[in-house]
Amino acid sequence: MAIDDALRWNGELTLTRHDPHTGASFVIRVDSTRLGQAAGGTRAAHYDSVTDALDDAGRLAGAMTLKMAVSNLPMGGGKSVIALPAPRPAIDDKTWTRILRLHADNIERLNGAYWTGPDLNTTSADMDTLYDTTEFVFGRSVDLGGAGSSAINTACGVFEAMKATAVHRRFGGRNTLDGLTVLVQGLGAVGSHLAMLAAEAGARLLVCDVDADRLDWAHGLGFTVVASAHVPTTPCDIFAPCALGGVIDSVAARELRAAAVVGAANNILADDRAGSVLRERDITYAPDFVANAGGALHLVGREVLGWNTDTVEQHTKAIGDTLTEVYSISDTEQITTDAAARILARRRADAMASAITAEVS
Ligand code: NAI
Ligand code: PHE
Repeated sequence: MAIDDALRWNGELTLTRHDPHTGASFVIRVDSTRLGQAAGGTRAAHYDSVTDALDDAGRLAGAMTLKMAVSNLPMGGGKSVIALPAPRPAIDDKTWTRILRLHADNIERLNGAYWTGPDLNTTSADMDTLYDTTEFVFGRSVDLGGAGSSAINTACGVFEAMKATAVHRRFGGRNTLDGLTVLVQGLGAVGSHLAMLAAEAGARLLVCDVDADRLDWAHGLGFTVVASAHVPTTPCDIFAPCALGGVIDSVAARELRAAAVVGAANNILADDRAGSVLRERDITYAPDFVANAGGALHLVGREVLGWNTDTVEQHTKAIGDTLTEVYSISDTEQITTDAAARILARRRADAMASAITAEVS
C-alpha cells in the first residue's frame, strides 16, 4: 500500500513513532470518540512496512468503533499496532520490555483519548507493564486490580454467535453444535478456549496453527490437525478464523467449503467483495465486530461500567440475539451481513449519542 493511501483515512488521530534502538515502530489510531474515549487492544506483529501497520491500525480502530456501538458500549474506537522488527517469539525479554515502555509513553501522551487492552501477542502481564507508565490500560492482571484477560469472554461470545448461526442455518434440522464440524484457525488465547467450548457442545474439531506446541496440545485432546494451506478448501460446517484478519478475500470466498464463518479474528474479510461472494454462495458470515465483542464487554463492563461477572455473562449471551437481528436485517434488505451489522451499529450509536445529548442538555 502507498503511504498516501494509508494516510488518507477518515479517523480522528494518528500517532506514530519509531525506536531506532530496537527497530520497532508504533502506531496508535483513534477512529472515533463520538460515544466516549476510544478503546482497543495493542497488537504486536511483524509487518512488511510501516505503511502496512498504519493501514492495519486504521482498519482495526474502525472495527472497534463498530464493535462498541453494536454492543451498546459508551466508548469510541481505537487501536495500537506495534510493528516488531521480527516475529514476536524472536524478541527477547529485555527488548520487549523496552518496547512496552515506549508504547506506554505514547499512550500517556494521548492523555486518555485512547485506552488500550490485550490483543494478538499481548497479555495481561504486558498490560501490567504498561500500567507502570500510564493509567489508560484495561485488562491488567486480576491480582493487580484489573479485569484480567479478555480472551475467555471473547471465546464465550463467539460460541454464542456459533449457536445463533446454527439456529439461523438450521443445520440439517439441528439448532445446536452437536455433530457439526468446526474448523478453528489459530489456537491462541481465544481459539483454544473456543475449540474446547465447541468440543464440549459435541462438535467435531478440526484445528490449525503455526505453533507446534499448540498443535501438540490439540492432538492431546483428540482434535484433527489441518495444514494451513488446506484450510480454505477443507469441508466443514463452521469455519472459525481466530488468528490474523484478512483471511477471506474474494478468491478464498469462492473456494471456501464451509457453510458458515464465525470467528474471533478482527477484520476477517479482506474486502467488501468477499462479503458479497459469501452471500452469493449462501455461506453465512457472522460479522466479526458482532461475534468477537465478548472481550470488549468484559473489559469495559468490568472496568468502566462496574458490571459483575453475571452482568458480563448476560451481555455476552446477548451477542447471539444481536447476530440474529443482523441476519434478519440482511434477509429483509437483501444485503450482506456485514452491511446489515453496520446499519445496526449506526442505529445503536445514534440512539446512544441522543441519550448522551439528552443527559447533557
Ligand atoms: P493470540 O496471540 O493469543 O493467538 C493467536 C494464535 O494464532 C496463536 O496461537 C498463533 O500461533 C496463531 N497463528 C498466527 N498466525 C497463524 C496462521 N497463519 N495460521 C494459523 N494460526 C496462526 O491472540 P488472541 O488473543 O487469541 O486473538 C486472536 C484473534 O482474535 C486476533 O485477530 C485478535 O485481534 C482477535 N480478538 C481477540 C480478542 C481478545 O480478547 N484477545 C477480542 C476480539 C478479537
Ligand atoms: N483487543 C480486543 C478486541 O479487539 C479486546 C479489547 C476490547 C481491548 C476493548 C481493549 C478494549 O476486542
